[in-house]
Amino acid sequence: MAISIKKVGVVGGGLMGAGIAQTVAQAGYDVIMAEVNQELLDRGMERVTGAWTMLTGKGKITEAQAAEYRGRFRGTLDLADFSDRDLVIEAIIENQDEKKKLFKTLDGILSEGALLVSNTSSLPVVEMASVTGRQTRVAGLHFFNPAPVMKLVEVVRTIVTSDETIETLKEFARSLGKTPIVAKDSAGFIVNFLLIPYMLAAIRMYEHGMASMEDIDTGMKLGCGYPMGPFELLDYVGLDTTLWAAEAIYKEFPDEAYAPPTLLRRMVQAGRYGKKNGKGFWNLDEG
Ligand code: 3HC
Repeated sequence: MAISIKKVGVVGGGLMGAGIAQTVAQAGYDVIMAEVNQELLDRGMERVTGAWTMLTGKGKITEAQAAEYRGRFRGTLDLADFSDRDLVIEAIIENQDEKKKLFKTLDGILSEGALLVSNTSSLPVVEMASVTGRQTRVAGLHFFNPAPVMKLVEVVRTIVTSDETIETLKEFARSLGKTPIVAKDSAGFIVNFLLIPYMLAAIRMYEHGMASMEDIDTGMKLGCGYPMGPFELLDYVGLDTTLWAAEAIYKEFPDEAYAPPTLLRRMVQAGRYGKKNGKGFWNLDEG
């Protein structure tokens, strides 16, 4: 039997957190989004409300709809505000220690029956569950960027997640207009296990001088019908995010296909994170 979800909390107002909060509020849920300081919260709130302004401008939603969404969405700096949430979705930095710290704190705040899920792209979810007293009600709920547009959600089952939790999350994903797929709690789940080595291979091709970035992108767009080429997608997803995902998968599957190429490391070391900070592969030539 599925658990009734009405009130949702999202921790993190970055690219993914804000996209998830927007999606969930649009589907009729009451949503609170948390950030660690006022500046990040303001930026996250602007991401969400700015999307509604954009959609109103395009005539895709009415002013009344936008007002309705805004009415059931708010931000907070205090996780104690999550005490009445039925479901909390963590979308903070891809760092296991930070996630475990957060899960422990949230476990002490949430009601006994509430579900706690992570939007991690590749870290072991069971490790986050291990610091809580609700291991059967912890799972992964992995959205894709841009969350309001992409139709997939990976529901990640740890070795201790209950059937009830999985059924509830599948139903929740469907209520957002998404298609859920269920993956085991192994690094990369389904999509990133295939997508990350593909993007890393594109970087290696470029490193070895086999083709230009533009031609690699054009090849995959026109040759395979992909909406973006690998470099465009790397910039879009985030080079830091891609590096963390590759490292997490490589740690569990030490196969060369998952080893982060030197150029990816150098890009991140140079502070080039992609679209999110305006510096990526697409403007590498400009220095
Ligand atoms: N809310 C609602 N709708 C939005 C939106 C938002 N925040 N942002 C954009 N949209 C809508 C636009 O209004 C537009 O709708 P329209 O076509 O009806 O006008 C539609 O989305 C497409 O947006 P754009 O016109 O701006 O751009 P494109 O047509 O070029 O499409 C794209 C953009 C959907 C991103 C497309 O290029 C694409 O599918 N790219 C591949 C993305 C992808 O592979 N994502 C997965 C990455 S992997 C990942 O996330 C996992 C992680 O763990 C690493």
